[in-house]
Amino acid sequence: MMHPINVAEKSDVGFARIPEGETDVRPGFVGFTTRGFLAAVICVATLAAASAQTPPAPIVVDGPAHQAPWVRYRDWSQTTWPTYNTLSERTRTPVATGKPIDIVGEIAGDPKKGQDLAFARSRGGGCLACHVMGPASQETPGNAGPDLSEIGSAGRPDSYLYNYIHDPRHLNAASSMPPWGAHGFYNDEEIRHMVAFLKTLKTPARFRSALDDPEKRPKPVEDRDALDPFVNPAVDRIDAGRALFAKAGPGGKSCVSCHADEKKFAGWAVTMPRWEPRMKKMLGVEEFIFRHASATTGEDYRMQSTGNTDLSVFLHSLSNGLPINVDISSADAKPVYDLGKTLFETKIGQFNFSCGDCHDPNRGGNKWLRGQFVGESKGQLDHFPLWRTSRGAGQVWDVRKRLQWCNVQVRADVLPPDVPEYDALELYLKAQSQGYKLTAPNIRH
Ligand code: HEC
Ligand code: HEC
Ligand code: HEC
Repeated sequence: MMHPINVAEKSDVGFARIPEGETDVRPGFVGFTTRGFLAAVICVATLAAASAQTPPAPIVVDGPAHQAPWVRYRDWSQTTWPTYNTLSERTRTPVATGKPIDIVGEIAGDPKKGQDLAFARSRGGGCLACHVMGPASQETPGNAGPDLSEIGSAGRPDSYLYNYIHDPRHLNAASSMPPWGAHGFYNDEEIRHMVAFLKTLKTPARFRSALDDPEKRPKPVEDRDALDPFVNPAVDRIDAGRALFAKAGPGGKSCVSCHADEKKFAGWAVTMPRWEPRMKKMLGVEEFIFRHASATTGEDYRMQSTGNTDLSVFLHSLSNGLPINVDISSADAKPVYDLGKTLFETKIGQFNFSCGDCHDPNRGGNKWLRGQFVGESKGQLDHFPLWRTSRGAGQVWDVRKRLQWCNVQVRADVLPPDVPEYDALELYLKAQSQGYKLTAPNIRH
């Protein structure tokens, strides 16, 4: 598979840049457990095996699959945004009143100050993240929004421009632009300066090169050989996972004790997430690893621990070349898929973005946010876990961590990795990759 990646910038979306660190595993994370408690809630395989040809995999059904209490990764922004929607708290964000702010007469502002504000990356990323803004546009503006180079001669009244910036939902209920004023990115005076600047824009953009023009900039193509260990450091994690597969846990058993031939798991990872009737939720690969290992070898592989990720890389790699094949139509899976679809369109965070605002090809998908190319949702989940080159010295991320990151980027509080909301989004996105062949671990910006 060839996949678009960003080659132009060092971080994710410019307008939500988060300080980055080197490592993701916190000291004291691996090894935290109360084994006695876990042992007591183990679902013994034989109990449910009566009718099935293959017994169901033993799992620990109770308790979280993540480090508890959940805390955000040490190298991520620790800011919280308690007044805005998350994927689970979907009614926190104040509803737009529907009434534009009354602007009397012409707006007086300083166009120079307005330009500085519009171009400043530190102010929520600046308007250039999505708009080309005339000849003065700096390097690599984006095109997720319309070219505003001639907005000054488009006949837009001052009150329209003011209100569109303050809260576009008043003028366009379907807007995918953040409510810059209503959500506190810019104050009244700053918006007035930006209106004054917009009114000076009357000349088509001139670009120094095709690279500066988001309409002509070549879309990045991922054509590295992801399975070459010299290209992708995460390939070594296949063997690290295989070693854990053979390692005896506290009870003396290893995975190999019960699964002598790893090849029988070819074709398993591509069917995940899958409905787990004993928990009445879906389990992705990583949550299954924790719950099944706790019940069999007694090893504690919490989600996002190194051991969990290594086993995930290993188990995924056994399905390389096989098509993604998730169940979305059974009576159990359908409602989860539907929830995923709803969540994909749910506005969250201070930026008030839904996943679709950035990844739907009719909106931000296959367009540029400054120098960052945003892919459409099709084909996103045929290559996890992956090596993220943009993360310090590089990190292996599973799919849940990527979903969490797409929350922090829009300034929405992150949820623990095993919540039903991420199950649903993973299933919905996997369905957009149905039939695509798995290549894991992969490598992305
Ligand atoms: C995340 C992308 C994004 C960013 C960043 C962004 N916009 Fe927009 N903007 C849009 C989109 C998309 C539209 C068109 C329709 C809509 O509202 O979804 C738009 C429309 C507009 C319009 C209305 C244009 C018209 O023809 O009526 C104005 C004015 C505007 N933006 C100004 C700004 C200003 C000023 C900033 C910076 C404070 C900014 N935008 C930042 C995405 C963005
Ligand atoms: C005590 C025996 C035992 C041990 C140890 C064990 N498993 Fe299993 N595992 C089972 C049984 C029983 C099943 C269900 C029947 C089957 O698929 O073989 C299963 C199923 C699985 C499945 C398929 C699940 C599905 O729903 O189809 C995977 C993947 C798996 N095990 C991985 C592992 C890994 C990784 C380890 C080590 C952390 C491990 N197992 C340790 C007994 C064990
Ligand atoms: C502000 C824009 C924005 C929003 C909103 C957003 N994303 Fe992303 N997302 C990105 C960017 C930028 C990337 C990295 C470039 C790429 O791979 O498309 C990315 C990457 C991803 C990837 C990895 C793609 C790959 O091929 O490796 C997944 C999966 C993803 N996003 C899912 C989501 C989900 C689910 C949501 C909603 C909860 C969401 N995103 C919301 C901008 C966004």
